Amino acid sequence: METVALKGTLTAAHIDAFRQIVGEAYVLLDEESRNDYGHDETEHLLFPPEVVLRPRTAEEISAVMKICNQHRIPVTPRGAGTGLSGGALPHLGGVLISTDRMNSILNIDERNLQVITEPGVITEVLQNAVKEKGLFYPPDPSSRGSCFIGGNIAENSGGPKAVKYGVVKDYVLNLQVVLPNGEIIWTGANVLKNSTGYNLTQLVVGSEGTLGIVTKIVLKLIPLPKYDLLMLVPFQSLEKAGEAVSAIFRAGFTPSALELVEIDALKIVSKFVDSAAVPVTEDTAAHLIIEVDGNHLDTLMMEMEAISTLLTEYEAGEVYFADDAQQKAELWKLRRRVAEAVKVDGYTVEEDTVVPRAELPALIRGVKQLGQQYDFKAVCYGHAGDGNLHIRIKKEGIANSADDPQLIQGIKALFELVHQLGGTISGEHGIGLIQKSYIDIVFNQHQLNIMRGIKKTFDPNNILNAGKIFDL
Ligand code: LAC
Ligand code: ZN
Repeated sequence: METVALKGTLTAAHIDAFRQIVGEAYVLLDEESRNDYGHDETEHLLFPPEVVLRPRTAEEISAVMKICNQHRIPVTPRGAGTGLSGGALPHLGGVLISTDRMNSILNIDERNLQVITEPGVITEVLQNAVKEKGLFYPPDPSSRGSCFIGGNIAENSGGPKAVKYGVVKDYVLNLQVVLPNGEIIWTGANVLKNSTGYNLTQLVVGSEGTLGIVTKIVLKLIPLPKYDLLMLVPFQSLEKAGEAVSAIFRAGFTPSALELVEIDALKIVSKFVDSAAVPVTEDTAAHLIIEVDGNHLDTLMMEMEAISTLLTEYEAGEVYFADDAQQKAELWKLRRRVAEAVKVDGYTVEEDTVVPRAELPALIRGVKQLGQQYDFKAVCYGHAGDGNLHIRIKKEGIANSADDPQLIQGIKALFELVHQLGGTISGEHGIGLIQKSYIDIVFNQHQLNIMRGIKKTFDPNNILNAGKIFDL
C-alpha cells in the first residue's frame, strides 16, 4: 500500500478508516483520479479533492460523515459532474464523495406510479426503464444521457419538458438523506399529498448538496403520452421569436417543449456534431423548437397548424416539421448539444437567467446591449417557454468568469436587469460556487440569514459542501 502524503486536513489514519468503510479499491488518491473528480462542466475550473471515495451504501456514507464531522473535514458530494455552477467542485480540498456506484433502480411501483431509485442512476436510464412499463418521468436536462438523478435533485433541474410537466421538484415525493452528522433520515412519505409539518423533502431538493447527501429517491411517475409532434420555426428577429413565445400560451396552447436557439448557436452546434439537418439561411436570427404531445394525434396536428398560423404574425419563416423519429432525434440532438458545442467554441461562461415569460424580449434586448457595453459576445438559447434563457458568454482570452473584472461587472449588470424584470439568476443550474457572489442581487440579508440558519441547523460544523450558494 502506498504511503499517503496529505497536505490538507486529512491524515493517514483518516484514509485507513475510509478504506475500512468503503473498501480499499474505492479510496482514490492518485492525481489522475483526483483531477477527474476535481472538475465538472463549469467553465474551466479545477479543484482536485485530497481523496475520492466511492461508497456503495447510505451506511457507508454515514460512517464517513461521522468521521468528517468529528474532525471538521470538508466533504463535497458529487453525481456525474455535469453541473454548470460548480456545485460539485471540491474547492476546499478534503473528501469527495462520488455516488457513481449507487446506481440501482430499486423498485418501479406500477400500482402507485412511483419509482424508488439510488442517486447514481443516469437520468435517461431511469426514463427508459419506466418507459418500458408505459410510464413517464418528464424532467430531462440536456445532459440526461450522462447526468445522475441525484445531481438533478441537488440542482432542481429542469430541461425542455418542464414547460408542460414541471421540474424535478414536482416529481420528488420522498428522500433518504445522510445528514452531515451521519444520521440517516427520510424526509417525508411516499404520498402525493402531504401537509404534515415542514416540507423537508422540498428543502433538500435544490439545496445543492449543502444540507445532506441524498441516498434514496422516491419519484412520482405519470402515464406516457402516446404521440408527440415537433417543428422548427425560423425568425428573422431574435426579439420577435421572444415575443412569439408568450403569444403561444396566451392563445391557449401548452407545448411540451418550447425552446429557443439563436442562429450562432445553431451554426456552431451543427458544425460540432457535423449535421446539415437545419439549413442555415442568411436572414434567420433564431429558431423556436416547438413540441406538442398527447394521446390524440388529430388534436396535436390541429394544434401544430394553429400555432404555425399564429406565428406568421411574428414574422416567422417557413416551418420545418420533423416527420419521423429520426428527424426528431436529429433536431433534439442539435438542441441538447448546444452547451457543449459553444463551450468548445470559446463561449465558456454560462448564465442561467429566468424572467417572467413575457419579459423575454426585454431580456434579449438587454443582453445584446450589455455585450456591447462590457465587451463580450453573447449567444442565447434555452427554455423560452419557461422564460429560462441560457446566455453563453465569450470574451477572448478569458476562460473563467472570475478572471476578468470587466466581465464580472457585465454579469452583475445582466443579473440586475434580470432582477428588474422580475426574474432571478438561476432557473435550473443552481448557484453553486460561481454565482454566489451575485446572490445579494436577488436576496437581502434577512432572506440570506434565514438560509444560513437552515444550513446551520443541518450542518452546524459547516463541513458539507461549505461555501456553496453563500459564504457563512
Ligand atoms: C441546456 C442546459 C445547459 O438547456 O441546461 O442545454
Ligand atoms: Zn437548460
